[in-house]
Amino acid sequence: MSIQFDFSGKNVFVVGGTSGINLGIACGFARWGAKVAVASRNQEKVDNAVATLTALGAQAFGVTFDVRQFEDVEQGFVQVADFFDGDIDVLISGAAGNFPSRVNDMSVNAIRSVLEIDLLGTFHVMKASHGYLKKPGASVVNISAPQAFIPMTHQAHVCSAKAGVDMITRNLSMEWGTDGIRVNSIVPGPIHGTEGMARLAPTPELEKSVTDSVPLGRQGTVDDIANAAGMLSSEQSSYITGAILPVDGGWSQSGATWFMANMSTMLDKMQAK
Ligand code: HXC
Ligand code: NAP
Repeated sequence: MSIQFDFSGKNVFVVGGTSGINLGIACGFARWGAKVAVASRNQEKVDNAVATLTALGAQAFGVTFDVRQFEDVEQGFVQVADFFDGDIDVLISGAAGNFPSRVNDMSVNAIRSVLEIDLLGTFHVMKASHGYLKKPGASVVNISAPQAFIPMTHQAHVCSAKAGVDMITRNLSMEWGTDGIRVNSIVPGPIHGTEGMARLAPTPELEKSVTDSVPLGRQGTVDDIANAAGMLSSEQSSYITGAILPVDGGWSQSGATWFMANMSTMLDKMQAK
């Protein structure tokens, strides 16, 4: 269940907003009255997301681009600015890729693909967005992961990429602070029913072990993350910038480390079969 914020008259762009957590965030802002644009690589996913947002009563728009291609990202912002006919009030950047793999099994192209989507992609989105962000007043939220500050086996690509994402957040909070733009990261914990969890906990045994390792005793929901994005982007948070906010039921305090130790053993067993 979503809580209530008022984003009527506001323009919200969610990059990577066509499935899972990021679509949940886009839906949150749609319910709170915003005009919402989403972007990702797959045209069908973009169309479906726009239909979902429209069904919630929002004016919605979709663009198709790969965050790895800077010129395409720039073009996407031109289209989105045209749709909004005004500045972007809230920018969410959450395109990401993940698969479990030990460093020894990872090709150079495999780590490159995750670094290019998560880290370089975030840089591309930030760089292309600046001219369109409301100054002062815009809220930028990058979607990070516990991997940014917790080393995890099978996750060297994501750990290094998301650590960089959080550093971009912290750097930009300083560089863009003088424009009155706030930049924060949300660090979701394990979020139920998402692609990320399907990839990291692909068996019922692993699924249970992740739930058991969360201090609050449950996986998160996409609404938990949407509510945090709404809170961070609301006027009540106007002095919050450069924050790296875990929304994870306490998982990153120690549960994530515990889970990853188990995941490592279980994945190795699965791969050995
Ligand atoms: C090892 C793998 C692999 C795997 C792909 N690769 N999957 N290596 N194990 N399981 C390698 C490929 O062999 C290839 O290297 C290279 O990675 C690029 O693969 P492509 O399929 O050509 O790349 P691309 O089509 O660009 O797709 C990118 C992707 C894909 C990241 C590989 O999975 C994707 O599009 N993911 C988006 C959706 C997603 O991952 N969502 C979950 C986000 S969750 P070679 O050498 O063969 O060319 C998240 C954090 C969750 O980010 C945290 C939970 C707590
Ligand atoms: P998801 O459903 O796979 O969402 C990823 C989104 O990014 C999709 O809309 C995807 O659409 C888009 N995308 C991927 N690669 C892209 C690219 N190169 N260019 C443009 N768009 C791209 O995964 P999710 O599990 O909800 O994860 C969403 C975010 O939360 C990610 O940043 C992830 O790191 C973070 N996170 C997730 C969890 C979790 O429990 N799931 C935990 C911590 C952090 P296309 O395929 O159409 O491109």
